[in-house]
This record gives sequence, structure tokens and C-alpha cells, in this order.
Amino acid sequence: MVISDTQSGLAMAIAVAMTESALFPPVVPLVSRNRYFTRKKLLKKLEANGNGARINALLDSMRASSPTRRPTDTEDHNSWILHHPSALNMFEEIMRASKGKQIVVFLDYDGTLSPIVEDPDRAFITTEMREAVRDVAKLFPTAIVSGRCRAKVYNFVRLSELYYAGSHGMDIKGPAKGHTHRKGNQTVLCQPAREFLPMIDEVYKALMENVKYIPGAKVENNKFCLSVHYRCVEEKKWGELGDQVKLVIKDYPQLRLTQGRKVLEIRPTIKWDKGNALEFLLESLGYAESDDVLPVYIGDDRTDEDAFRVLRERGQGLGILVSKTPKETNASYSLQEPSEASYAVPQTFGGVEEAVRTKALE
Ligand SMILES: *[C@@H]1O[C@H](CO)[C@@H](O)[C@H](O)[C@H]1NC(C)=O
Ligand SMILES: *[C@@H]1O[C@H](CO)[C@@H](O)[C@H](O)[C@H]1NC(C)=O
Ligand SMILES: [Mg+2]
Repeated sequence: MVISDTQSGLAMAIAVAMTESALFPPVVPLVSRNRYFTRKKLLKKLEANGNGARINALLDSMRASSPTRRPTDTEDHNSWILHHPSALNMFEEIMRASKGKQIVVFLDYDGTLSPIVEDPDRAFITTEMREAVRDVAKLFPTAIVSGRCRAKVYNFVRLSELYYAGSHGMDIKGPAKGHTHRKGNQTVLCQPAREFLPMIDEVYKALMENVKYIPGAKVENNKFCLSVHYRCVEEKKWGELGDQVKLVIKDYPQLRLTQGRKVLEIRPTIKWDKGNALEFLLESLGYAESDDVLPVYIGDDRTDEDAFRVLRERGQGLGILVSKTPKETNASYSLQEPSEASYAVPQTFGGVEEAVRTKALE
């Protein structure tokens, strides 16, 4: 995939909108990107027709949400990096916005704190990243909000002072240790999809059975929801995988299918997502209707958009999308993944810490 001039132009427009220093810059619709995908879809359609293969909306959408090729045009890529505000600059702005307010930090796990790796069981957090999160949690109430099973995320992160919201926020638990930040409810536990547990288990077994013939497909049981990973599935098999998943869940109208980066997610139809988790946690911290709070949410995927949207609707806080390329988003800011191995967040929070220290010295 080569980023077109139009796209890098848009990147500049977004960067300019973001450096306007408004906390809520307008969402810039990425019209040209959509056009790009439309053209890509059309090409795929032609290809598929040539092979006599079946075309379906799910497959198109799997392709669109999981580009397999990286940008190769270094010059355009550099211009995107150049025209994005640096994490440090941004955090100076955040510190200004946070004057007199309690910052509460929400972090997605996969792709934000850990790299996207082939085997989702090996998406380990680096020691530096863990230290960075630990340092942040000393300053602010901090929550990890992930699509994964809560216990699994905890096993990766292993910081008992954090809030953990697993299964896309459907399984929330407060810190095990006493927490000095909290001024609201002392016991935080929320499992709004508890009644779906037996159904999720049943569907997990059916999915395992149905996709075991597709090399590389991996079903993950996240307790209140399921993930079907296709990071290691050949692209020509994506259609078959999508069909198998749809075949299983068609008998379960109480479950719905959503998507992320190289993953299909099956979850209860209840209206509860990462956005609700964010609101629930703010409420438990005693900031339900408060103006004295600045929630900061960092995430990289579609499911994080629910949280970005909540922040936008509240007219409060900062949504930060981790992405190398321009994407349509309700986040106000973006961070890049500097490389596959080292992530943006430690630097960013290095910035927060420095700003807090500077402020303390003032
Ligand atoms: C604290 O939260 C729990 C779970 O949400 C709830 O059952 C309980 O009534 C709350 N207690 C107080 C004092 O608000
Ligand atoms: C951003 O929010 C608007 C309004 O809620 C919604 O219609 C749109 O789909 C959201 N965009 C993304 C990328 O989620
Ligand atoms: Mg993620």
C-alpha cells in the first residue's frame, strides 16, 4: 500500500487541526481514504469474480480493518510523523487543560501497551512499559480496558494497583490493594453480562470445532465475549473463516459480531462497551457529573472508538488514537507506534511525569 499525496495532505490537515490547541478539534472525515478503500474493494471484487469466489460484506470489512501491507513511501510517512504533534508537546497541553482537575488514565492493552504479535498469548508487555504504567498509576487512578479476559490481561500486566476492565469492559474490578485516589465506592466490581456466561461457553466450543480446519485461526475465550484471531490465517482463507463464524452465531440472536485488528469479536448484544466501562469507572471514582476530572483514554482499535465517543459527548477528557496511518476516529489526538518493539506510551508518560514535576516546582 502506497500512501497517496492526498492522504499525506489529509494527514497534514489533521495535524494542523490538532495543533490548533483546541482540546476538541473537529473530526476530519477521511474522505479520500474511504475512496481508496472503495477502489480497493472494487479491485477485490473484480479479483474475486475472476476466481468465481463468493463476495461478502464481512470479508470486505475484515480486509478494510486489517490492512496486510505497510506504508512503504518513506517520504510521505516522514511527513505524517513530522506533522503530528509530539507526545511531549501534547502533554504540555494536557497539563494546561488539567489544571485543578484529577487526571484519570485509561489504557487499552493490545497494540497500545503491547505489540500486536502473531500469537495473542505472547503479547507481552515490556519491562519499560510496565514501569511506565506503574509510575503513571502512582500519580493518577489508572485502568486497563481490554477486549481480553480480565485475568489474562492481569497476568500480562501484573500491577495490582490498577483497575482492570476485561471483556470489552464487561468485567470490571478495582485494585486489589488499597487505593489512595478513590473517593467514591470502595468495592468496584461490575459484570453486566453475567447471565451470558453459559452461552459464551457453548459458542466457544462450537467455534473451536468449526474453525479448527482453517490453518492459523485461533479462538480465544475472554469469558464474557470471544475473539477469533486471524493474524496467522492466509488472506485467501479469510472469507471461509468469516462464513464459519457467521454459521455458528446465526443461532444466537443474543450475540453480535464486531471487528478489530485481525480479529472477529463475538459478544452479547447488551449495550455495554469500553465507553460504558469508562463511565462506570469515573462514577466509581466519584466523578460521575464532575467537571473536576480529565479522563485520558489511549487505544488503537475500533472498540476504543466507543470510549473516544463518550469523551467527545461529555466534552471532557482526551482521546488518543495509537496509529501510524491516518484513520477515521473520534479521538482528538494521535500517537504513533515508533516501531514494532517499542511503544509510544512510555515516552508519552515520561512527558506527563516531567510536566507534573515541573508543575510541582512552580
Ligand atoms: C458499591 O458498588 C457495588 C457494586 O457496584 C454496589 O453493589 C454497592 O451498593 C455500592 N456501595 C455504595 C456504598 O455505594
Ligand atoms: C464518531 O462519532 C460519531 C457520532 O457518535 C459516529 O457517528 C461515528 O461513527 C464515530 N466514528 C468512528 C470512527 O467511530
Ligand atoms: Mg488494542
